[in-house]
Parts: sequence; structure tokens; C-alpha cells
Amino acid sequence: MSDARKVHIKSFGCQMNVYDARRMADTLARDGYVETGRADEADLIILNTCHIREKAVEKVYSELGRLRAMGTEAKAQGREQMIAVAGCVAQAEGKEIIRCAPSVRLVVGPQNIHRISELVARANTGEAVVDTEFAVEDKFEQLATPKPEVTRSRGISAFVTVQEGCDKFCTFCVVPYTRGNETSRSVQRILEETESLLAQGVREITLLGQNVNAYHGRGLDGRDWTLPDLIARLAEIPELYRIRYMTSHPRDMTDALIEAHRDIDKLMPFLHLPVQSGSDRILSEMNRKHTRAEYLQIVERVRKARPDIAFSSDFIVGFPGETEQDFEDTLALAREVQFAQCFTFKYSPRPGTPAAVLSEQVSEESKTARLYRLQALIEAQQRAFNLACVGREFDVLFEKPGRHPGQIVGRTPYLQPVPVYAPQSLIGSVARARVNELTGYSLVGEIVADADSQSRQSFTAEASAFA
Ligand code: 5AD
Ligand code: SF4
Repeated sequence: MSDARKVHIKSFGCQMNVYDARRMADTLARDGYVETGRADEADLIILNTCHIREKAVEKVYSELGRLRAMGTEAKAQGREQMIAVAGCVAQAEGKEIIRCAPSVRLVVGPQNIHRISELVARANTGEAVVDTEFAVEDKFEQLATPKPEVTRSRGISAFVTVQEGCDKFCTFCVVPYTRGNETSRSVQRILEETESLLAQGVREITLLGQNVNAYHGRGLDGRDWTLPDLIARLAEIPELYRIRYMTSHPRDMTDALIEAHRDIDKLMPFLHLPVQSGSDRILSEMNRKHTRAEYLQIVERVRKARPDIAFSSDFIVGFPGETEQDFEDTLALAREVQFAQCFTFKYSPRPGTPAAVLSEQVSEESKTARLYRLQALIEAQQRAFNLACVGREFDVLFEKPGRHPGQIVGRTPYLQPVPVYAPQSLIGSVARARVNELTGYSLVGEIVADADSQSRQSFTAEASAFA
């Protein structure tokens, strides 16, 4: 039996948190920590928190209550468990967390996770440690590049953070306060991390940033590179098959980025472009810095460059002052664009943001009713998009075994999962699959020719919901 120390990381919220959790695990692996999926057997438990919506702080404290009970049990068995809080609630609450939940020994903000080893070591001496000072450049320079020998396989599709923080200050959003100013990572560092992931078998990367299309990192020639420059360089790497990016702001959809969708085959035809609202009055109150017409023009320009592109978006319903007419404008915008999928949220006041103190808060009942109406429309659009795929063939990048024996699952360029019956050896490669039907929300496919053009085989497949 190994006596390695164990770390359990529970992540809430966005992909950036998922990424940060991976990087904390990588860094701690160098100190001999092995990851475990079970909190009860861990020596170190990290809650990687999210502050973007709804009762985030309450959720963290109730989770901490549960962990304290578990820690007491562990102690009775002679084991010490250390509890750490990371992520955006850590940033927002700081030492308040230790005051309210003394069982927490470490509070670390999202900009400081590269120091996790040193902070854990300090907390292990018994000192309660709080590190929430912004130091994003340090983080990007010092984050451990995952080494194949210390990290487990990252699967076929992985995230790489290229930009963090935000200077847009939408009036509903905490990100500029918790993740700080917009900062970009250097191209060199991004390439190093990508190469390391590719060596572990990764074949698709999603470039992450709160405002990813505002990317302006130091390029290989010493000048600042934009997101399309970075994508073009990454596309030159033969082992990398697919490139995606999220989340984009409409204001930063430059001509060069739109042209990249036309010119770079490896850049997938899928664009997550949050609009939040379809009403100009609300967009202005939100400080979104774009109008409804401007958003629609961008959609049109992107579609012209890449006619098959699929759009996805984020919507907030019930922003303060939103009237029935404003909400109708949102529905009308969604009808005009025809999204492939969307995330829909009820507005939730975030402490410290300008919208939280606006007087005309919308009632909970109206928010709920509007959310349902918008969701029904988006679901119908998603279904129409999926139905339109039936009978067509797609390049599918196979990522993992499916639910049923003999099955594997991959994704179309438009991010839809497709299960097929095919050999496991296809995992990690792109193969042509025909979509035969749609059951529930799932496409059902069969291979028509594999990546190496081996003999044509036909496998039937059964539906399987999103894993
Ligand atoms: N209330 C509801 N939704 C929010 N989002 C951000 N802040 C809030 C809030 N206060 C949503 C936005 C954003 C997504 C990541 O979360 O739609 O694009
Ligand atoms: Fe938040 Fe707006 Fe920045 Fe997106 S663009 S992270 S919604 S402030």
C-alpha cells in the first residue's frame, strides 16, 4: 500500500475552475499528492468555489459544515484533514471564511493557485493562511506545465487557459472583481502546455478565457499576438486536430477572428457568444457595450465567413428593470439567430456589483416564468438543430468509451455527442460517422469510414444521453 498523501478537489462553476483544479492537482502531484474522488479519505480537501450566481457563499458554508463533521470523524481515527477554500468565493470573502469556519486552514484566490504547494506547506505548520492578492502575471509564468509522468491522462479534449480576468465590467458580473484585470498568457507558455497535453494523447484543445477573444499575449516574435494569430500557430501542430475557444465578447469579434473561421479548418465551426439580452435598453443598463443590431450583424458576418457555424449564447432573464417588452425582444433575438444551444440564467444580484443596488428588481415569479419561456424556445431550437443533422455525415473526434459495452462516444464539430458501436482503437482519432436518428437529446450514429480509411465497417449505435 502506498502512503501517498491524498487530495480531493471539488470544483464548482465554470470551465476556468475545472482548469484551475487540474493545475492545482498537477502542482500538488510534485509534492507527492495523489488525487482521490473521495473526500472522506483525503488528507487535503480543496473546495474550488464559484461566485457568479445564486447563493454561492451560503453553499460554501453549508459544504464546509459537512466537511467539518467528516474531519471530526477522521480525527477520531487519528487522521488530520486539511480544508482549503479556493476560487472566486475565496477571493471575495478572504479571511472572513476563516473567521466563520475556523476548520478552514487555507484560503487561496484564483490568481494565486500557482503558490498552492507553498501555501499548503505553511498551513500544515498550523498557521491559518489567506492569499488573495492579485498576481495574475506570476500565475501565468509560474503555473506548472503538466508533465506526462506526474499527471494522469487528460483524455482527448482538454482546456488551456490563455487569458484571465475582465475589464468589461458588465453591471451584473463579479468576474472583474474576483478574477481581476484582463491578462493574457504568453504564446510560448501556451505552446509548451499544448505540447505537453498532446504528448499525453490530447487531440483537441479549448482555449479558455473570460474574454478570450480579447487575447493579446506576448508572441514568439516579441510583439503582442491576437487570438487569431495564436490559433493560426496552434493549427500548425500536426498532432492537434481541433481548436475551440470560449468565452467571447461580441465587442472583440474582430475581422481577423471571423476570417480565421473561414480559413483555418482546425478551428471548429462553433461559437459561444453571450448576448445576455435582446433589448437595447437592458443591454445598455448591463453595460454590455453592444446593441442588439450589432450582435445580429456579427452573427451575420460570421455566418457569411463560415456558413455552417453553430451559435451558442448566455442569457440573463429578469435583470433589474426588465419589462415584458424587453423580454419579448430577447425571445425575438433568439428566434432570429436560431441557436444550437444556450445557457439561460435568472438574474441574481451579486454583492458589490452595480446592478445589485438598482431599485427595480424583478420578482422571483416573473424571473421563473421568463426563464421557462426562454428555455422552451431554446430547447426547440436545439432540437431543430439536432434534427437537421439526421441523415448527414460528420467528422467525429472519438473521446471515450460509451455507456454500453462496445460503444465509443465522440463529438461532431458542433459539439454534439455521438455514440457509435466501434472499436476502442478509434478513441483519439477522427472518423466519419453518419447520424441515423435523434432519440431524446442524443444523436445516434454509425461509422461510415474510419480515419485511416480502413475497410468500410458499419456499426449500429444506440442513443446515450450526454455523459
Ligand atoms: N446573474 C445571473 N447570471 C449571471 N451571469 C453572470 N453574472 C450573473 C448574475 N449576476 C451569467 C452570464 C454570463 C455567465 C457566465 O453567467 O450570462 O455570461
Ligand atoms: Fe462578466 Fe461581462 Fe466580463 Fe463576461 S464580459 S466576464 S459577463 S464582466
